[in-house]
Amino acid sequence: MTTADTIATVELGTDGPRVGVQGLGCMGMSEFYGDTDERAARDTLDAALEAGVTLLDTADAYGRGANEEFLAPFVRAHRDEITLATKFALVRTDDPHYRGISNDPAYIRTAVEASLRRLGTDVIDLYYMHRRDPAVPLAESIGALAELVQQGKVKQLGLSEVTGPELREAYAVHPIAALQSEWSLFSRDVEKSAVGAAADLGVTLVPYSPLGRGFLTGAFTDAGEELTEGDYRQRQPRFSGDNARTNAALLEPVRAIAAAHGATAAQVALAWVQQRAEVHGLTVVPIPGTRKRARLLENVAATRLTLTSDELAALEPIAARVAGDRYPDMSSTAAAREE
Ligand SMILES: NC(=O)c1ccc[n+]([C@@H]2O[C@H](COP(=O)([O-])OP(=O)(O)OC[C@H]3O[C@@H](n4cnc5c(N)ncnc54)[C@H](OP(=O)(O)O)[C@@H]3O)[C@@H](O)[C@H]2O)c1
Repeated sequence: MTTADTIATVELGTDGPRVGVQGLGCMGMSEFYGDTDERAARDTLDAALEAGVTLLDTADAYGRGANEEFLAPFVRAHRDEITLATKFALVRTDDPHYRGISNDPAYIRTAVEASLRRLGTDVIDLYYMHRRDPAVPLAESIGALAELVQQGKVKQLGLSEVTGPELREAYAVHPIAALQSEWSLFSRDVEKSAVGAAADLGVTLVPYSPLGRGFLTGAFTDAGEELTEGDYRQRQPRFSGDNARTNAALLEPVRAIAAAHGATAAQVALAWVQQRAEVHGLTVVPIPGTRKRARLLENVAATRLTLTSDELAALEPIAARVAGDRYPDMSSTAAAREE
């Protein structure tokens, strides 16, 4: 791909760097969505860079460090061409379903060193707090993160799954470049307060799971039956039993709009996030996750798809009709602190 074929760029936060308008979620390359073909995953990373997808997203929790280690050779080879984002706060054990949360300053100082080591780099471009622990004052955690910026270990700060008021509180301690929260045709609770706060502050919204963890691609008709053993989505309420069948039926307008554009359902879902952000006056960099070059290219092409206002109106009712929560346990999400 030549430079002319690469995607547009936007500024991350209010003082850069510029990144491609779509990033790449790398989580599935190590865990959660079934078996991974390492060669295909590495080829996907190459395709991303060729297409101008420069924001790469990982976390210490993905594969309990394995995803950061997997990325290390790519990071080494392309350090100055990518914007590397990772996260701390989700504490895992041998129990694959256990999730603790730590926002303690001492924990943050240990976690950053471990991520730097696994990634094989001396600086993280964007360091997110993956989940909020309300027991620790935000000012303490953000204060500790600000020290990492001063020490040159981290360039910019991000938060994930925080409410609008929490984002404002954190920003008052230190500028926050990005808010990473779930935002898609199926998941719009972020629009309640976080999106408005991000727009006001100039924080870039990084929608995670913009394809509804694959559901919005039309891959499932009866997900509970179709997911393979060990796929993390088997535990997701939206992917099981009656919910899964109800949610599959909601995709009818998505498929119709896709057909009208000669596009795919995935592309319509991605174009929707991009255009929904415009309505809110926001900069967004969605991070669809894929382990396949062809899908990466398909997703990237969605940055050039524009939906009409009639089409946006037809998609509007979907989120309110979705059956099932985003997580089996919603207690650590921003939504749980907004009710
Ligand atoms: N901050 C948080 O709490 C949080 C939570 C979840 C995820 N994330 C981040 O967000 C990223 C993206 O979210 P996600 O991976 O959960 O969900 P997603 O991007 O909504 O969907 C990923 C799923 O869709 C499939 N897919 C991707 N493109 C496709 C296409 N064009 N056609 C058909 N299927 C397609 C992928 O399969 P293949 O890989 O087989 O293509 C994968 O199963 C993650 O990688 C992670 O970095 C953050």
